[in-house]
Order: sequence, then structure tokens, then C-alpha cells
Amino acid sequence: MSEPLLVVDHMTKRFGGLVAVKDVSFSIRPGEILGLIGPNGSGKSTVMKSILGIHPPDGGSVKVDGTEVAGWAPHKIAQRGVGMVFQHSRPLHRQTVFENILLGLLPDRLTYLIPDAATERRAREIAEKVGLGHVLDRRPGTLPFADLRKMEIAKAIARNPRIVLVDEPFAGLTSRETAAFAQLIREMRDDGRAVLIVDHNVRSVAALVDRIYAMYVGERIAEGSVDDVLRDETVRRVYLGGALTVAARPESSFKDVDTPFLAVDKLDVFYGKAQALEDVSLKVHKGEFVAVVGLNGAGKTTLFNAISGLVPYSGAIKREGTALAGRSAAKVARGGIVQAPEGRDLFTEMSVRENLELGGARLTPEEREERLDWLYGLFPILKTRGKQNAGTLSGGEQQMLTIARALMMKPDMLILDEPTLGLAPVIMEQISKALEKLRQTTPLTVLLGEQNVTFALPHADRVYVLEHGRIVWEGDPSRFEADVGERYL
Ligand SMILES: Nc1ncnc2c1ncn2[C@@H]1O[C@H](COP(=O)(O)OP(=O)(O)OP(=O)(O)O)[C@@H](O)[C@H]1O
Ligand SMILES: [Mg+2]
Repeated sequence: MSEPLLVVDHMTKRFGGLVAVKDVSFSIRPGEILGLIGPNGSGKSTVMKSILGIHPPDGGSVKVDGTEVAGWAPHKIAQRGVGMVFQHSRPLHRQTVFENILLGLLPDRLTYLIPDAATERRAREIAEKVGLGHVLDRRPGTLPFADLRKMEIAKAIARNPRIVLVDEPFAGLTSRETAAFAQLIREMRDDGRAVLIVDHNVRSVAALVDRIYAMYVGERIAEGSVDDVLRDETVRRVYLGGALTVAARPESSFKDVDTPFLAVDKLDVFYGKAQALEDVSLKVHKGEFVAVVGLNGAGKTTLFNAISGLVPYSGAIKREGTALAGRSAAKVARGGIVQAPEGRDLFTEMSVRENLELGGARLTPEEREERLDWLYGLFPILKTRGKQNAGTLSGGEQQMLTIARALMMKPDMLILDEPTLGLAPVIMEQISKALEKLRQTTPLTVLLGEQNVTFALPHADRVYVLEHGRIVWEGDPSRFEADVGERYL
């Protein structure tokens, strides 16, 4: 067996009083993929950032091919052959896709360099390999989500690292895109690189990795083969959780049949010349949970933004019979239709508690305390992190805060746009249970946008499928699988 390329030994990282990573040790050989799993906030991203020197470790050692690099500056560590595929794409927006990839191929000491033909050819090859060949001349801002993720991989391949750290590559991707991405990562391994990957898509991680290291509150809880770790009692309890089982209620059980709580009628939305929504009609009854299922770019967010008063439209949107057109977004929200947006939209420089209090600004002090208590029961981590800046929360913690802040407003209707993005399975189960409790004990109405149908279906009383801006199917969740399931499951 070859020597490990990356050796992490008793690594520790603190943020003030919080020990985000404690005594973590593992090694990865060339041609090996190690999966790093754990609940939200367990320290996975911090492990990666500490290896790369972005958050230099406070203790322990990081060896790259035998050389101690702990404490080095990130660019020095990168020069040693460590690359990271970040969860959030950070492209250079004024450069084309081709130029973005090309930059990764140029030696970083030279600030001005005219690439030769061979370098350009290599950039094209990489673009082809990741499936960006047809968009080389586009600017990143115009690309769909999955293509932006591909560009991050392409940039990483261009830099030719021997050790690749990949943070949540599958979040927000469809199953087909996930499979294509997994194949790219497999090829990195087959090229003899050492790969460390974090993702909450357990099935895809299990199919890809050679071994798993599982963490909980900064520490190792299990390590070994995929089967052993996923069967581990502690891992099941703190990370995987149980299965979701719920049942839909028939439409006839809702009383507002003639004038539903929300009625969207023949909605059209244009961005410039591009039509984002075409002839979209749907209704949501009071107390009903309705799911809008659709892939990236299908138009879910546009639909929700139209309802929330954030984008202009033609057609009608009515709440209990009254048209909402012309109302400001603030007025729609004050009226009780509240959106927990995709991409979070938190006040990053304010604390967790301040973000929540802003959500509850219109409640009486007693109502606010009561609501906070209830939300802390739902998301205990938000209570313990009350003073932390929202911007420094882990990916999943930010997602929880977004949902909690929307619930603080005591909405009549809650619009959840991709709430499961980046959440650990056990948290999805928690949110799932919370939604179920809300469904049974309150008149809350929910409009849920998801491409994760495994999460959406169990909660939905009815489902709409949105494709390319049009509703192509509507019906009962029990018929979903037979009718349109093959495209989504
Ligand atoms: N700069 C910071 N200041 C204070 N706390 C931080 C900072 N960065 C991260 N943390 C905290 O450290 C813990 C670990 O965060 P990390 O981002 O590593 O989690 P994670 O395992 O990647 O979670 P997720 O799956 O949700 O992305 C979290 O509780 C987070 O709130
Ligand atoms: Mg993370």
C-alpha cells in the first residue's frame, strides 16, 4: 500500500469558547476517497478549512505528503497541491466560463500571462470533461445552478491538486446531475488523487467513498467501512434518524373549496424577453400543505416571489378572494404570507437571537417569548448559538435559522423554498415532525417548493409538478410515483 498523501493528526480548532473540531485524526492515500459525515454544525467544513489553512488549526498536525503544513498560509498549502471545491461558487463574474477555467491553469505567481495554445486546449478539454463545452463563452451569472457547480469542479481540476476537498457537491442537484458529479469525483480518485468529501446525500456518499469518518459536535464518533459506519448505533441516532411516514388528506376535507385561501390564476412572468412562468394556475386551501416539485430552474422561486410581491406578473393571485397585485412585499408579509427564501437571506452581521427577534417584531413580548421557546425546542442549536453572528453559522444552521425566522412571524401561510438544502437527515426528520405537528395542531397553510421529493411527498396533501415554467402535473402524492416518479425519484 502507498503512503498516505494527507495525514491529519489530533487536529483541534476553536472559535472563542467553542471547540468546533476536537482531536480529529485521519489519513487519506492517493487513489482513495474518504467521506466525512455528521449532523449540521459538527465541524466538517471547519475540518476542510483548517486543512487548507483558511482557519489554521489551534492544535495538532496536518501533513501533506510528509510535510507539516499546519499554520501555513492558504496559498502556500494550495501550492503544495491541496485544492478545495467550495459549497458556494465564487466565480469571477466578468470573465467567461472559459477564462475562469483558464485562470486555474496559469501559475499563480504570474499576474500577467498570455496563455499558450496548449494551455487553452487543456482548458477546453477540462470544460468538455465536466460538461461545460457548450457554455464556454457565457458569463457565470447567466448559468444555471448545476453548471456553476461544474465550473467549480473544473477550476479545481485545472489547478491539478493532489489532495481535493469537496464540500457538499450534491446539494441542490438533481439525481441525474448528482450521478454525473459523482463520476467526476471518481475520476479524480482514479487519477491517483486523495479526496475528502462532505455531503448530506447519504446514498450518494455511500456509493462513492472507500471509507467514512463520522463526526458529532467536533469529535469522531465512528470510522471505517461504509456499512459499519452507517449501521453504527450512535451514527443512526445523531445523524441518520428514522423514516418519514405521513398521510395526505383529501382535498374534499378542506372547507374553502369555492374561494381557496390562495388562488393563482393564469400567471405569466417574464424576465426581459425570457418567460419564466407560463399560464400557471394553482390553489392552496386553508390549512392545506401543497408541494410544488420541480428541478433547478423550473420556476419555483419565481412563482413564490410573485406570490410574495417580489416580481411583477400578469394573471391573478388572490388571497381569500382578494387580489394581491400591487401590494408591496412588506404588505403581503404583514398580511400573513411569509416566505422562507432559498439561499437564506439572513442578516449575517447580526446575531442569531437578533435575527429571530426581527422576525417576531410585530408580536407582543409574551407572544415573542412563547414563540421563541417553541422554536428553541424545535432547533435547540439556535438557543445555544443565540449570540453568534448568523454569517458564521454552518450551512445547515443557517437553513434552520431561516425557517425559524419565518415561523417567528406567526404566518397564516408559510412558503418554504427548498428547505432541505444542506440539512442532515436527522434534521430533516425533525423539521418533518415539526411540520407534521403544525399540520395537525394549527391552521397553518404551507406551500413547499422542493426537488427533494422524498422529503416533499410525505408532507403534501396535493402536489404540482413545475417544468420549464409550466405546471405539467397535479394530483395526489400517492399517484406521483406512478405518473411522474421516474423523472424525479
Ligand atoms: N467563524 C466562526 N465563528 C464562530 N463559530 C463558528 C465559526 N465558523 C463555524 N462556527 C461554528 O462551528 C461549528 C462547526 O461548523 P461547520 O461549518 O464546520 O459545521 P458543518 O459540519 O460543516 O455543518 P453543516 O453540515 O451544517 O455545513 C458550528 O456550530 C458553527 O456555528
Ligand atoms: Mg458545512
